[in-house]
Amino acid sequence: MPKIAVTGKGGVGKTTLSALLAFTYAEQGANVLAVDADPSPCLAEALGFPAKLTANLTPIAQMEELILERTGARPGAAGGYFKLNPRVDDLPDRFSVSHRGIRLLELGAVELGGSGCICPESAMLKALVTHLMLYRDDVLIMDMYAGVEHLGRATAAAVDAMIVVAEPGKRSLGTAAQIASLAQDIGVKDLYLVGNKMRSETDVAFLNEHGPDLPVLGALHATPAVVEADVKGLPVYDAVPEMAAAAREIVARLGQRLDNSGAEEDSP
Ligand SMILES: Nc1ncnc2c1ncn2[C@@H]1O[C@H](COP(=O)(O)OP(=O)(O)O)[C@@H](O)[C@H]1O
Ligand SMILES: [Mg+2]
Repeated sequence: MPKIAVTGKGGVGKTTLSALLAFTYAEQGANVLAVDADPSPCLAEALGFPAKLTANLTPIAQMEELILERTGARPGAAGGYFKLNPRVDDLPDRFSVSHRGIRLLELGAVELGGSGCICPESAMLKALVTHLMLYRDDVLIMDMYAGVEHLGRATAAAVDAMIVVAEPGKRSLGTAAQIASLAQDIGVKDLYLVGNKMRSETDVAFLNEHGPDLPVLGALHATPAVVEADVKGLPVYDAVPEMAAAAREIVARLGQRLDNSGAEEDSP
């Protein structure tokens, strides 16, 4: 069951792609855990979760009492003593909601002042993300917001695929290259590129030529239908068949890649 992290510059389409991937795996019969790591969560909407369900969903980072109970300190209490490895194994099932075969968990916002900020809520999220990567047997799709800061080294090594989403354009590709390099620094091995908002074959060629040197899993077209679906509150997967088809191709290509790398590891 692949553990997939989706990254990229703000607005490139991480949430759109995460939702598309989640629906694709769910349709194939997998148990999917979708994790929203954006401080302003919006994956629930992209997945078409009914408001009645999401009303009960609180981002983990905002659960003060829970964080106190598990780490021994209140969120925001820097400098005190708290557990760096709080118990988290019960959280994914307790604090997520499920719809159409997709379980959704929201991580929430953590102050990440400076490098290596250590506070109770960040310790909690790190422990949780590590648990999700290493000890659960569902397909994990993590919508990573902009950075890779929720990933410690141990966790980074457990990511089966980090997908960097990029739009045509030098800035988006520059950010993609930066993210790829940071991710490699913390030990993510399998990075891939997905293009989004491609207007023409020229854009696809531009991506291939100027993008970071990563395998390209696919490229999604720019289409007003995606924005319309957004406006109507419909999942792109339901409303735009072309996007659903492209997502299936991406999942198929990723599957081949992962099978191959698995085979390589197995051989002597
Ligand atoms: N292929 C596409 N064609 C047209 N608009 C798109 C496409 N993909 C995403 N968008 C739009 O771009 C905006 C940002 O997408 P989103 O998935 O929220 O990005 P991110 O999560 O990276 O910030 C949204 O309004 C979305 O509807
Ligand atoms: Mg997003």
